[in-house]
Amino acid sequence: MSDLRLAKAGTIEIVPSILNADFAHIADEIAEIASAGVGMVHLDVMDGHFVPNITIGPPVIAKLRKCSNLVFDAHLMISEPDRYAQAFIEAGANHITFHIEVPAKHEDLIDSIHDLGATAGICLNPETPVEAIEKIAPLCDMVLVMTVHPGFGGQKFIPEAAKKVTRVREIVGPDIRIQVDGGIDPDTTPTVVSYGADTLVVGNAIFSNPDRVAAINAIRNACPVR
Ligand code: DX5
Ligand code: ZN
Repeated sequence: MSDLRLAKAGTIEIVPSILNADFAHIADEIAEIASAGVGMVHLDVMDGHFVPNITIGPPVIAKLRKCSNLVFDAHLMISEPDRYAQAFIEAGANHITFHIEVPAKHEDLIDSIHDLGATAGICLNPETPVEAIEKIAPLCDMVLVMTVHPGFGGQKFIPEAAKKVTRVREIVGPDIRIQVDGGIDPDTTPTVVSYGADTLVVGNAIFSNPDRVAAINAIRNACPVR
């Protein structure tokens, strides 16, 4: 367990996704992004079932927890988040996002994530309509709008998916974070921020640049003044 918390809504947070980082040196990668002043790191968890890729689980997160004071934002792209959420929180995840497309008791899962001391998020895939999360979104601390199909880093931003942020913002108001994930770079950042996103997950645009700090600053500079 870790008592780090998701920052309150109202500020823009750039959240590096380490999916395309050098996995032989993840702790160093996280230290480098921390030196750029970010407060969170996005950990993409894939089970080879909900998405066609496999990444990390609780044991890796538990080891990383010992090396970092960043807020750990775990994006569970897994078929049974209700079965594993507790293990991720015990390993050190501070925020748990799961997908509305999985057949779980969504509201109960939000409650149990909160009871375990973490914040909770619901995610919708590009083809999922906003109506699917209308009831559950106000119970969450953050809503994640996928702007690519989940599974891999470095994919092309889907403009139609990003447009859903506007409607999500109408539903949740100003006090719940809206996160976008997939294809976020200095070109797409102004668009998603203008729609109302305040939490920008960025993978490839940071980790394809040998200078991670400069890449984070490029995203910062692309944010329109609100
Ligand atoms: C995709 C993951 C993303 C991914 C984003 O399934 O959820 O977090 O790492 O990476 P980029 O920024 O490369 O699209
Ligand atoms: Zn993600």
